[in-house]
Amino acid sequence: MDRENYAISMRGITKRFGEVVANDGICLDVRWGEILALLGENGSGKTTLMNMLSGIYQPDEGEIYEDGERIYIQSPRDAYANGIGMIHQHYKLVEVFTAAQNIILGLDDGKMDLRQTNARVKEICDRYGFDIDPTMKVYDMSVSQKQTVEIVKVLYRGAKILILDEPTAVLTPQETVKLFNVLRNMKADGKAIIIITHKLNEVMEVSDRVSVLRKGCYIGTVETAETSPQALTDMMVGHAVTLNIDRPKYDNPQRKFIVEHLTCVDAEGITRLDDVSFTANTGEILGIAGISGSGQKELLEAMTGLYPVKSGSIRFIDDAGEEVELVGKTPMQIRKTGVGMAFVPEDRLGMGLVGSMGMTGNMMLRSWKKGRGALLRKKDPEALANRILDELEVVTPSTDYPVRRLSGGNVQKVLVGREIAIQPAVLLTAYAVRGLDINTSYTIYRLLTEQKMKGVAVVYVGEDLDVLMELCDRILVLCGGAVSGIVDARKAGKDEIGLMMTSTSAKGEAR
Ligand SMILES: Nc1ncnc2c1ncn2[C@@H]1O[C@H](COP(=O)(O)OP(=O)(O)OP(=O)(O)O)[C@@H](O)[C@H]1O
Ligand SMILES: [Mg+2]
Repeated sequence: MDRENYAISMRGITKRFGEVVANDGICLDVRWGEILALLGENGSGKTTLMNMLSGIYQPDEGEIYEDGERIYIQSPRDAYANGIGMIHQHYKLVEVFTAAQNIILGLDDGKMDLRQTNARVKEICDRYGFDIDPTMKVYDMSVSQKQTVEIVKVLYRGAKILILDEPTAVLTPQETVKLFNVLRNMKADGKAIIIITHKLNEVMEVSDRVSVLRKGCYIGTVETAETSPQALTDMMVGHAVTLNIDRPKYDNPQRKFIVEHLTCVDAEGITRLDDVSFTANTGEILGIAGISGSGQKELLEAMTGLYPVKSGSIRFIDDAGEEVELVGKTPMQIRKTGVGMAFVPEDRLGMGLVGSMGMTGNMMLRSWKKGRGALLRKKDPEALANRILDELEVVTPSTDYPVRRLSGGNVQKVLVGREIAIQPAVLLTAYAVRGLDINTSYTIYRLLTEQKMKGVAVVYVGEDLDVLMELCDRILVLCGGAVSGIVDARKAGKDEIGLMMTSTSAKGEAR
């Protein structure tokens, strides 16, 4: 094999964290002028491997070659010096600085005059098709604009090898299209690009080759043109996997949750939810669709007592058929009313779990006394942690291992597992599969469907329209905080829902 051809060649890379072998003798090659997708289940070692190129970690064993020459990367500075730049999932920008100030931050030529910087930034933007204003402050930027600044920052430092860790997880479909065009331009320019993503349609669309990791080991590399999502999934998981969602119908759904004329206003006086009315029923998955920031977050938080309500009513129907008003109650008071409500929030390690605690500790945090967790009361948290570990195949050395050290997807499994375990009457989920690998995503869809068939009222806030249409029974579409319609997911068309997401005048049919 001729190493000269490769932009980067990693040979026999091993990285351990205590007893965890995150990377086990991995070999990976990327060529100049190609986009390589790095694929693998949650916890398979993708981020760790890339962090050894970006200088965040050093390998315990193995060698790295760039253009055929051995290189040693001890720090992010070394990575830059070797023309390697990584876009992490959590951006590292200074909010009060402008785009240009962030781009030159920490460079020795930081004293360089801003006019020159702006001119070079503009040149990079024109060349690759970015669209940023160098004088804009980071706190005024959207997520996608911040990401653009990160990429320009890396290019400004002369990166020839770019690594992007799940860059599309936070982008809208339109922003993803733009990003991919930029990546294609960089590829045409001869750069080497490695992209991590769990979305197989993106892998198929943008990559030239795909390398697959499984449980810290290198499995193989295939040409994108010669593979398929199914084949890639099988490679990732190690056995055949079915990729379809079964949508059984529940007999006789009943109203469980009634939201009427709900209006919420934020601290700045901006209306976040505008006269929202709907019901969530037993034995049903109610999807919530909308462009991100259309009120999804506020709606779930209002339902759990976390967001202040200006006017309107949120009522829960208890087992005796009585309506219990929840508006005006704190989350703790809501819990005390006996409403079995489970919540999987968007912010997993902030509102969901405590990162420094292990799985068992996090199980103990949940109040089991109220609600319908009668069965569970007898089981101790340790047993529950072990059950979740087995059923959801959580990758962790032990149930006491701090959850913040787990890979992103495994954190989510722990949270979803715990919330389902309380045997709720209502299960609210926000972006339940974000960051999850495809196999785990389907596990989550199955779990939610199981809950529905047990009579739980499931509310599923999602971003993938295809999944919403395949998984849910009804879909409520939000646009600018208002309901633009509620449709029957078995009958609605994708275009119809897309239109409703951008306009409140395109009303849907079903209640
Ligand atoms: N700093 C750390 N300390 C201890 N263990 C770690 C650390 N970083 C990663 N690990 C472990 O290494 C393994 C690989 O994690 P990594 O984050 O590389 O996975 P991944 O493939 O990027 O997963 P995901 O798709 O969920 O992001 C996991 O078991 C994880 O718990
Ligand atoms: Mg990762």
